[in-house]
Amino acid sequence: MAGVMVPSVLLVCLGNICRSPIAEGLFAHHAERAGLDVVIDSAGCAGFHVNKPPDPRAIATAAAQSIDIAHLKARQVAVADFYRFGEIYAMDETNLAELQSLKPADATAKLGLVMSMIDGAQTPGRSVPDPYYGGQGGFDQVFEMLDQAAASWARRQSLTAGED
Ligand code: 4NP
Repeated sequence: MAGVMVPSVLLVCLGNICRSPIAEGLFAHHAERAGLDVVIDSAGCAGFHVNKPPDPRAIATAAAQSIDIAHLKARQVAVADFYRFGEIYAMDETNLAELQSLKPADATAKLGLVMSMIDGAQTPGRSVPDPYYGGQGGFDQVFEMLDQAAASWARRQSLTAGED
C-alpha cells in the first residue's frame, strides 16, 4: 500500500534560523494551498542556534507575505532524518556536502539542492545565498527564491499524488 505513505520533506541550511525556516513556512503554505497531505520540517547542519526561534529578520520577511514562522524552533540535522524523510533539500552546496558526508550508506532519503525544484538541474550556482550577515535585500531574495521552489515542488507533488 504505497499509496498511504505521506510524502515528507526536510529543508536544511546552516543555522536553521534564516533560510530553512522560511523554506519550511513556504513549503507548508504551498502544500496547504494545493491540498497536499505532506510532512514538512527544517533543520540546520550546525547546532549554534538549537531551540532558538528564527532570526527576527526572517520572521518579519515571512510575516510581510502572511507566512507565520515565529513558532518554529531550530534543531540540528540528525542521522535519523535520513530514514524519516523521503526528501532532504539543502539550501547551498556547502550544506549539501555536509549532508552527503553525514548520510548513512543505507539511508532512504533522496538528497538534493532546494533550487533544483525549479528545473531539475543540480548545477552549482543554484544555491540560496546565506542572508545572515547581509541586509533586508538578502532576506527578500531568499523569500522569492524559496517561494518559487516551493510552488514548483507543490505543482510536481499535485501531479504525482494520484499515481501508484
Ligand atoms: P541560515 O543562516 O543558515 O540561513 O540559518 C545562518 C544563521 C546563522 C549563522 C550563519 C548562517 N551563524 O553563523 O550563526
